Amino acid sequence: MKDATPQTIRLADYAPYPFTLDAVALTFRLAPKATRVVAEIRMTPRQPGAALALDGEHLRLISAAIDGQSLSAEDYILTDTGLTIHPAALPDAAFTLATEVEIAPEGNTALQGLYMSRGMYCTQCEAQGFRRITFYPDRPDVMARFTVRVEADLPVLLSNGNPTASGPGWAEWVDPWPKPAYLFALVAGDLVAHSGNFTTMSGRKVALNIWVRRGDEDRCGFALGALQRAMKWDEDAYGREYDLDIFNIVAVDDFNMGAMENKGLNIFNAKLVLASPDTTTDGEYERIEGVIAHEYFHNWTGNRITCRDWFQLCLKEGLTVFRDQQFTSDMRSGPVKRIEDVLTLRARQFREDQGPLAHAVRPESYVEINNFYTATVYEKGAEVIGMLRRLVGDAGYRRALDLYFDRHDGQAATIEDWLAVFADATGRDLGQFKRWYSDAGTPRLRVEEHWQDGTYTLEFTQVTPPTPGQPEKAPRVIPIAVGLLSPNGDEVVPTQVLEMTEARQRFSFSGLAVRPVPSLLRGFSAPVVLERDATAAERAFLLAHDTDPFNRWEAGRSLAREALCAMVAGAAPEPEHIDAVGRLIRDGAADPAFRALCLRLPGEEEIATALFERGTVPDPDAIHAARGRLAAALAQKHEAVLSEIHDAMAVPGPYAPDAGPAGKRALRLAALALLSRIDGGRRAQALFDTAPNMTETLGALACLIEAGQADAALAGFRARWSADRLVMDKWFMVQLAHADPANAPALAARLASDPAFEWKNPNRFRALMGGFAANHAGFHHPSGAGYSFYADWLIKLDPVNPQMAARMSTAFETWPRYDAARQALAQAALARIEALPGLSRDMGEMVARLAKANR
Ligand code: PHE
Ligand code: ZN
Repeated sequence: MKDATPQTIRLADYAPYPFTLDAVALTFRLAPKATRVVAEIRMTPRQPGAALALDGEHLRLISAAIDGQSLSAEDYILTDTGLTIHPAALPDAAFTLATEVEIAPEGNTALQGLYMSRGMYCTQCEAQGFRRITFYPDRPDVMARFTVRVEADLPVLLSNGNPTASGPGWAEWVDPWPKPAYLFALVAGDLVAHSGNFTTMSGRKVALNIWVRRGDEDRCGFALGALQRAMKWDEDAYGREYDLDIFNIVAVDDFNMGAMENKGLNIFNAKLVLASPDTTTDGEYERIEGVIAHEYFHNWTGNRITCRDWFQLCLKEGLTVFRDQQFTSDMRSGPVKRIEDVLTLRARQFREDQGPLAHAVRPESYVEINNFYTATVYEKGAEVIGMLRRLVGDAGYRRALDLYFDRHDGQAATIEDWLAVFADATGRDLGQFKRWYSDAGTPRLRVEEHWQDGTYTLEFTQVTPPTPGQPEKAPRVIPIAVGLLSPNGDEVVPTQVLEMTEARQRFSFSGLAVRPVPSLLRGFSAPVVLERDATAAERAFLLAHDTDPFNRWEAGRSLAREALCAMVAGAAPEPEHIDAVGRLIRDGAADPAFRALCLRLPGEEEIATALFERGTVPDPDAIHAARGRLAAALAQKHEAVLSEIHDAMAVPGPYAPDAGPAGKRALRLAALALLSRIDGGRRAQALFDTAPNMTETLGALACLIEAGQADAALAGFRARWSADRLVMDKWFMVQLAHADPANAPALAARLASDPAFEWKNPNRFRALMGGFAANHAGFHHPSGAGYSFYADWLIKLDPVNPQMAARMSTAFETWPRYDAARQALAQAALARIEALPGLSRDMGEMVARLAKANR
């Protein structure tokens, strides 16, 4: 009976829950195979005559009683998905429902609900995991105060809120803040804390703990510091103070996602907590700081104000991503962070928007909500807020946010509520702006220029291609930040924001002495694809002169992308590009992190996207070869200066993960990546042999792999790190991501049969399969071996961990771009998955959506 006909859930069907929950008391008697959960829920009916429908899955009901009276079999209906109590069995006024259930955390490989990770108990309840713990209205608009008692013969017993009492083998926690069930958490294990504290703006002292396995406690300092910085920043930037006496973070080895914002008890994938120079790269340090901040920021944007239903997921996620991006930007370099965020947005969200999985920031229906924790909801959701902020200005944004916190604290809110605070605080009509939430697809913004008698005119046209279920779209509000440069490089019109609202619209600038060069969409002011015919010379000019750092980088990037697209078709390297890169790397005044970003070539997938966008079917092997040729040409032409940079960017002294030294290492490795194309890996080997930190070790290793000289290095790396799970994940990932594509499917298969491939561990699975899928020409191997290998593993993982399997299936989302032979092979792999009996709801929804080409 399970999942026989998966139901579609629709936003339009929302109805409030007919009961109010006044208090929830939970008792856990933990045991790996048979945990008992006793729930006492005090509730008040709000609609006379309504049945009491409770969600529940994988639960063994032991007993159920109302106000102390056991229910008899006629009083309720028990199914695979819940317990419904007949209205006749319910009192008219407030009552207490008491249930006891048995669950088996040890066998829970889906890692949702209560599960075990190497001897420790932990929970994951978002989005619908709480129903695997007890019978409950598992929906975000049902908020209640929780009291929790945990009983287990383990030294550390944690739950949400503040600790109130404990003794040997038990502990009690009270969370004074009403919350939805998805924010519930419990942890029990033999853990040790790295502790500190934080004094809030009103002078309250909060105890902070990072809980980890014994032996990991010396890798928690960075995470604790990041938490303290995040707490301070939220007070300074948003006026938001923490609201409990204690804040706990727990690192868990088996975790499907990055981390989870459970009230007062954040649970993290260990890879986003543990950090040491030996084991952690600069990029990972930055990510750890960002995710620690993200989960902390959810305390206000997500927890104090939560979502009415899961269609409103972007209400908390888009806003919290936006906030963590602002935070990282303040902690490190604003321009560098913006470039990194746009790279991610394009690589993940534009890709999603362009394929069969395209959906709105606020979707209107879903089968499995776990499939909607996407780049569109998160990253595009954040971009939409960035546009709002640009449109209403910094002061307007702050007023709107103050009003949001004021008006909706303690509530489960909607996107309508969110837009209303902006309208009310700033007087703006946001009716048209709302299309950013309802319409899928990335708008294409075409621009044409006119110059006459000192007047310069920009004429924009916007078109959003069709997406599944949305053939036609009305024009959106697009904030276009523009500056104008004179041909000598001076800025003649500083940045101003043009507000485009029509399908076609003109904006003029008069009184100009000479025809200007436009710098369009500064700071990437809207998540659109800008289409402008520009010469290589003009792009090189902007790369040299633009005052907007994002657009400087963008000019260089588009120059490289254009050159690469031409090279795929057989052209020689573009001299303008080669020279422009030479000027840029000699510019010692520019931030090394920025130069590193400019030096790195667009990836193969990005080139494939660019070709597809101009109507060419991308050939993965030709793209791989062209990119290699360009890297070699750059290295040949600039060997001397690249070599100098490589040596000069060595950072002496003890390691620090800060933006300054990290930027130098990034530039050093970007130079090395080019040099390794012509020196047979000589410099990479030297760096690998002496590198004092993981950033340079791994960077050098990647170069050695690309140079085909990594056998000894890979063996040595493995020998040194075989006991460290997080480092071994990198070992799997790096060799597949950088492998020779011709051999990549065979290598992937070999690594998948390595005894160290613990495939039920999400990080390990993601490392191998994600590393392989990142090898563009390897995954899209013309034989189809990549597709079938990958599909085999999705089939194997699905019954064990459907959420993970479904997430990983997105590797297939670009199949409609490729040639007919590849399309047929990819479709056959998808069809093989779809035909599987007993496919999970998660995977069933994904393959059904994936199978449909978009155009
Ligand atoms: N809410 C988490 C975050 O954004 C992500 C998450 C979703 C984690 C679902 C686990 C399960 O930080
Ligand atoms: Zn989040």
